[in-house]
Amino acid sequence: MSTDFMVVGNWKMNIPEEGVVEWCRSLGVWCEGRPRGLEVGIGAPYGELSFVSGEFGGREEVFVLGQDVSVWRGGSYTGEVSAKMLKLWGCDGVLVGHSERRHVLGEGDEQVYEKLRRVREEGMVSVLCVGETLEERERGEAYGRVSSQLHRAWGHDGGVGSDFLVVAYEPVWSIGTGRVPSEEDVREMIDHVETHLEVLMGEEEAGKVKILYGGSVNGGNAFDLGRVEGIDGFLVGGASLSFEKFLPILESVNSGGVGE
Ligand code: 13P
Repeated sequence: MSTDFMVVGNWKMNIPEEGVVEWCRSLGVWCEGRPRGLEVGIGAPYGELSFVSGEFGGREEVFVLGQDVSVWRGGSYTGEVSAKMLKLWGCDGVLVGHSERRHVLGEGDEQVYEKLRRVREEGMVSVLCVGETLEERERGEAYGRVSSQLHRAWGHDGGVGSDFLVVAYEPVWSIGTGRVPSEEDVREMIDHVETHLEVLMGEEEAGKVKILYGGSVNGGNAFDLGRVEGIDGFLVGGASLSFEKFLPILESVNSGGVGE
């Protein structure tokens, strides 16, 4: 995987304010003058994936992500979407274990484990989301929670390989709330994730895995957050829902010092 700073927009179950077509056109225009060293990811709803991947096919700096995937490879599972389908729709990767899936939709670590493997089987990258709840942080269990999520996702079969993994640290209490951990807290957790990955896959492999931060990232805080040591990118929800709000985040990376 490249060493570029990665900014991933996760539209969740929303369509951007200006519509998908206009949002993508704006990104396409921005990419023409794009600085080197930045990759942009788009986590679009299923119905939009083919269009989005069609718009950016061949552009190596833009990659398209599904927001979830089935644990099954195929068959009679009404409503499920397989990794093979995501691949057919042009996805390069998939968000796996997002906190809304874990905490709102009841997804467990066993499912996260299976999903990582389905994504890997199709040669796509998983953006594995980990993060603690507010109660866990207040009880001093944040590091334990994140270690356990990483450990269970990795399993005992050698994991999915560093080429197929990005980790996104998203504290649950920061998602959609406007509350952002201190830069020191983010740095310490990124450090913790790095150390844990080293234990799981060895130092060399772990060094290749990008670690993103997500949770209330916006145009006002992206520059400072992006300079936190060890951060390789952002996972952005609300501020990706209009290109006007997403742009300052991209530009903050552009303005120097970020990801260095
Ligand atoms: P917000 O940026 O809206 O806090 O959402 C973060 C997120 O969940 C991205 O996946």
